[in-house]
Order: sequence, then structure tokens, then C-alpha cells
Amino acid sequence: MTEVSSTLPTFAELGLPSPLVSALERRGISAPFPIQAACLPDAIAGRDVLGRGQTGSGKTLAFGLPLLTAIAGVQAAPTRPRALILVPTRELAVQVQDALAPLGRSLGLHTKTVVGGMSMSKQIQGLRRGVDLLVATPGRLTDLIERRECSLADVRITVLDEADHMCDLGFMPAVSKLLDQIPSDGQRLLFSATLDGDVDKLVRRYLHDPVTHSIAPAAAPVETMDHHLFIVDRADKQDVLAEVAGRPGRTIMFVRTKHGVDALAKKLARVGVRAGALHGGKTQSARTRTLAEFREGKVGVLIATDVAARGIHVDDVSLVVHVDPAADHKDYLHRAGRTARAGERGTVATLVAHNEVRNTERMMRRAGVRALRSKVTTGDDTLIRVTGAQRPSGVPVEPEPEPRPQRRGPRTGGGRDRRPRGRFEGRGEARQSGRFDGDRDGRPGEHRDGESRDGLRHTGGGRGGAVRHEGGRAGTGRHDNRRPRPEAAR
Ligand SMILES: Nc1ncnc2c1ncn2[C@@H]1O[C@H](COP(=O)(O)OP(=O)(O)OP(=O)(O)O)[C@@H](O)[C@H]1O
Ligand SMILES: [Mg+2]
Repeated sequence: MTEVSSTLPTFAELGLPSPLVSALERRGISAPFPIQAACLPDAIAGRDVLGRGQTGSGKTLAFGLPLLTAIAGVQAAPTRPRALILVPTRELAVQVQDALAPLGRSLGLHTKTVVGGMSMSKQIQGLRRGVDLLVATPGRLTDLIERRECSLADVRITVLDEADHMCDLGFMPAVSKLLDQIPSDGQRLLFSATLDGDVDKLVRRYLHDPVTHSIAPAAAPVETMDHHLFIVDRADKQDVLAEVAGRPGRTIMFVRTKHGVDALAKKLARVGVRAGALHGGKTQSARTRTLAEFREGKVGVLIATDVAARGIHVDDVSLVVHVDPAADHKDYLHRAGRTARAGERGTVATLVAHNEVRNTERMMRRAGVRALRSKVTTGDDTLIRVTGAQRPSGVPVEPEPEPRPQRRGPRTGGGRDRRPRGRFEGRGEARQSGRFDGDRDGRPGEHRDGESRDGLRHTGGGRGGAVRHEGGRAGTGRHDNRRPRPEAAR
């Protein structure tokens, strides 16, 4: 584990080229965060790095800056990127691109995102013009490679962000196939707030003598985060949620299923709280719009499945609410980590019924979290003090439009996506297009929770009815198999 000293070197001292240091300063980033100070020297020296830093600790720049430094000075050939960042969700890809593209420009580097749900023809055009850094989700990138619109033969530095999550989601076979196409002497960086599970397999197979930089123990809660467990009677839960949603300040509420997200958004609209609803059953344009409105402060509440749990950064989120308890301690930490980022303070509240207290507290202990427990109802003093809860106006607002099912295959130049259905063995990008959505037809709970770190298989044609899940969620031991399957991030 890396010792964090109180005086960190400057970005220039860490070896970044001066145009990059100036570009960082122009964005108000003048001194490195500890994970960046720890990782940069080794990564710039060309070492493979395993980086674990808490949520909001600045991992994007910890891998992004050495990556840009590594590829500066040489232009990519058409369709042959020189650097690749793989991420599990579309929103995260766009966010990483937004963070790194302007920095890359300072070195004359061109960045492009390729993700599902967006125009493939535009992505193809961009690749043909030449892309230095490609940020991608595995499924779309695989498609483009199969269409011979992209080759990984020139990639010399690869990053897996949220590496453990990509394995959890079943991206492992797709990720391995992609990594197999990258020259084996290239540099690899793996990052996440939680590195475990199948990541070991990736590390053994693809990393050379990696150096691990971990600025906190495996289960280390963010110090600036307060955790609360609110016990509510089931009959009161919706009213309590409405009061919490009526608070001033930016709030993210996590719900297990897409159906649950839409239902809560509708209920809140009826009592006067306009909330954005984000899940994998929405069209990509709706997903993008909802997140943008939340970022811009047009809506103060975002209700989301775990699709928004990993990596997503929105400034000033002061409260995260687990409407349904997280599936495990890792999901708890990542959901919670949407608040208290980059040294800010934040509050995390979990609402549970009496019979959920034991399991939820056990999960919190595994997360290394100590939560204050209180029994609350509407108008409760503790609830108001902790969350700023306010009774909403009661005047209905326009609810979110009904989600439209996503088009299955992206079109290129007028043609259909010819990728065979269900060819990913796991819950990969195929899930991104909604093919494996457990409740995409609005029937929550019809699927068992079959999420497994190492045993999940999807068989059949990939349409909802033909999906078979094997195994429970490995490693948790206490996961209730009869609960609705949480939506996988996509
Ligand atoms: N050196 C820095 N100085 C100031 N702000 C920074 C610095 N590094 C990162 N940030 C800001 O901190 C915020 C969180 O960074 P980032 O999204 O990279 O966190 P993360 O570690 O990847 O979190 P997660 O585990 O949730 O993905 C971003 O808004 C980023 O711009
Ligand atoms: Mg991140």
C-alpha cells in the first residue's frame, strides 16, 4: 500500500509534459490528488498498474494523464487507435471522454467514444479520420472490429476502468477477446474503487509485473460521508421518500429495477416533485437528456438503477438514498460514492423495512461503514435534520414521458446491426441494448436474481424469455435469490 505524504509533488514534478500541466490548470486542477501522485510515476515509466482508490478520489486522471503522456507525439493511423479505455457503461464512457478530450487536445491528440445506443456511422466516420484515444464499451467496440472499422493492433496503452464491475457484469469474455487483439507488450492499467473477483484472472493473464497502488484498505468508507439507516414501516415508505425527495439540494435515489424507477418517478410527480428517471430501458437520447438535466440542475432528483452507480460524477450531490438496499457491499460503496466526492461532504441514507435491517447492517459492515440507525416516519425530526426532508407541494407536475423500448441494433449507413443475438455469454453489451433486460416489459421480479461473478450464462437467442441464469451472486452468501434481479449497468 502506498504511503500518502502530506506534501505531494506537483504535476510537473510527476513527469507530465508542460502543455498537459497548463491544460489541467486551465480546468482548475493545480495539484494532484493522492491516487494520482501514487500512480503517475510508475504509469509514466511504462509499468502496468493496478489502482484502487475510493470513489471520487480522482482515478480518471490517475490513469488518463499517464495514458495521454504515453501516446503524445505520434499520430494514429485511420481506424487504428493508439490508446484504449474500456468502461462498463455508456454514460461513463462519455464522462471519461469529456474529462480527457480537452486535455488530449493540448497534446494534439484526438479522442473518440464508441458506445452502444449512439450512431455507429458517426463512430465509423470518426475512426476513419484517425483516433488517438478510444473510449469504449466492449460490445460496440467488438462490433466495429468485426466490421473491420477498427483495429487494436497499434494500441500501446490500455485502461480498464471499473475493471471488477466489467467482470461482474459478464464482460469478461468480451474484454478478454479484445485484450487478445492488443500487442502483448503494451502497457495495461486496471482501476476501480473495489478490485476483486475475476479481476485476478485478468491481472494474471494480461498484466506484466504490475505495481499496485491502493490509497485505502479494501473496505474503507470515504471519510467525508455520513451513513444513516432509516427504518420505516412499509406503509409509510412512499410518503417518507416523497419528503426526502422534496428536500433542497441534489439527490440521487437508487432503486433495484427499472419498473421501480419509473413507478417512483410517477409517484413523486403526483405529489409535486419532478425527478429524472434513468435506467437501461430508456432510449439513449432519454438517458443522456435525463443526466444532462440533473447535471444542469433542471431537476434536483435523479432516480436510477445501478446503471448510475459506477463512476458517474455529478457536482454537489449532497444525498444518496438507497430506496432498495444495495445487492452487496460493493454496490453499496459505489452507489454511496456518488456523493462526498473529491473531498466534499455527503450523506447516504438507506431506507429499510424492519425485516431488512439485519441483512442490510451486515452488508454495511462488510463495506466498512458504520451507519446511525433510527426509526422514522413522515415529519420525523431526525429525518429532517439528516436529509433536509420537506413535505412536497402536493401539486402534481408533469411526469417523465413513458420509456420507449430501445431499438435493438444500431444502424450503420441505413443497414441493420447484423451482430448475432446473444453471442456474449455474459451480461455484456448485449444487455446494453436491452436484450437481456429482466423487466423491460414492465414486469418486475419475473427474473430470479442470477447475478454471479463467475457462473452466469445466458443461453438461447438472447431475447428475454430465453435467458437462463445460473448460480447466485457469488461471495455474498446472503443474497435472496427470489428478489427481482437488479438491473445490470449498461
Ligand atoms: N487533482 C485534482 N484536483 C481537483 N479536482 C480533481 C483532481 N482530480 C480529480 N478531480 C475531480 O474529482 C472528481 C472525481 O474524480 P473521478 O471521477 O476521477 O473519481 P473516481 O476516483 O474515478 O471515482 P469513482 O470511483 O466513483 O469512479 C472529478 O470532478 C474530478 O474532476
Ligand atoms: Mg471513476
